[in-house]
Amino acid sequence: MKRPIAVYPGSFDPVTFGHIDVVNRATELFPKVIVLVARNPSKSPLFSDKERVEMIKEVFNGNKKVGVDVFDGLLVSYAKRKNASVLVRGLRAVSDFEFEFQMALMNRKLDPSIDTVFLMPHARYTYLNSTIVREVARLGGDVSGFVPPTVRRRLQEKLNLRNNSK
Ligand code: PNS
Repeated sequence: MKRPIAVYPGSFDPVTFGHIDVVNRATELFPKVIVLVARNPSKSPLFSDKERVEMIKEVFNGNKKVGVDVFDGLLVSYAKRKNASVLVRGLRAVSDFEFEFQMALMNRKLDPSIDTVFLMPHARYTYLNSTIVREVARLGGDVSGFVPPTVRRRLQEKLNLRNNSK
């Protein structure tokens, strides 16, 4: 059976080692994984969608199985347009489950031909999320164990800019 194209949507503000672990696992299962950055106007991200896309591209530079894109519509419509029939989401802990379950069932209701696959990142990333990384960086903590060097640099630049404009 032909393996389907997968879409891995998220805010990625910024991409962390946890996200990267999920992408790497997904590329073992699917021939093509599109990491899809949500514009999400209801959130006010630290990084613009362009910056978030750039960081992900830098991380997966040279990996032909990984594509990066940005969207602001319905996820299932995007997936359909790209001929993708699988959505990938990371599941770290039971606390993630309720929201993820709701989203997966809503997406199935909207398009029954698209399935959601949950992948568990390595246990060492269970506590990791982008909000915590932004917070640690903002307070001057060391984020090198949570994000790749390119993201760490950009976090520093972004936070320095913010501090200088205050
Ligand atoms: O990284 P996040 O913030 O948990 O990602 C959430 C995201 C972007 C996957 C979710 O908000 C989403 O799918 N947005 C697209 C809008 C949509 O299709 N909504 C209906 C299904 S719930």
